[in-house]
Amino acid sequence: MQHVNQGLTVWLTGLSGAGKTTTAVALAAAMRDRGSRVECLDGDSLREKIGRELGFGREDRMENVRRAVYISEMLNRHGVTAIVSMISPYREMRAYARAVLPHFLEVYVSCPVEVCEQRDVKGLYAKARRGEIAHFTGISDGYEPPECPDMVIRTDTETVAGNVQRILDAPALRRFLPPW
Ligand code: ADX
Repeated sequence: MQHVNQGLTVWLTGLSGAGKTTTAVALAAAMRDRGSRVECLDGDSLREKIGRELGFGREDRMENVRRAVYISEMLNRHGVTAIVSMISPYREMRAYARAVLPHFLEVYVSCPVEVCEQRDVKGLYAKARRGEIAHFTGISDGYEPPECPDMVIRTDTETVAGNVQRILDAPALRRFLPPW
């Protein structure tokens, strides 16, 4: 297998509470164990650090994605793999990321909205149901599931470790792990 000396962007898309961040952190740790240089870009922290003015309308979400793509591009150029975990609910956004980034692996973190709502890790689904959050993805705002993702992982039936192993085993990712 030809090893690639550039970085890859692994793009985790899915509903709030689907397990994107958990998967991203575990995947990053596993890749670092194998000698890769990896950085995680998470929607929540991007918003906190460089997107405090952004809301959740379509344009603001798109702007959030643009920033993540810009940073990923720079990381990739220096051989660092970027693991992006953002809802990125619209196909157009993910198509943009794929078009700009040289090596792109789209992973759909799939979990039924009912399960995400039951987990409700941040209590936001309950708030959205009470009408306290407008445009909440999966409740009062849309999510367009990827039509042709590179991978689908399920978090309602599979374990974090199992999903990480599946991503690591994907030939498209293995090319980016150091050969030693
Ligand atoms: S994205 O749509 O712009 O890609 P992003 O992943 O950055 O979303 O942020 C999603 C997180 O913001 C959710 O996990 C949740 O904690 C919080 N959040 C607050 N309001 C909303 C909303 N209206 N829709 C979705 N997520 C929201």
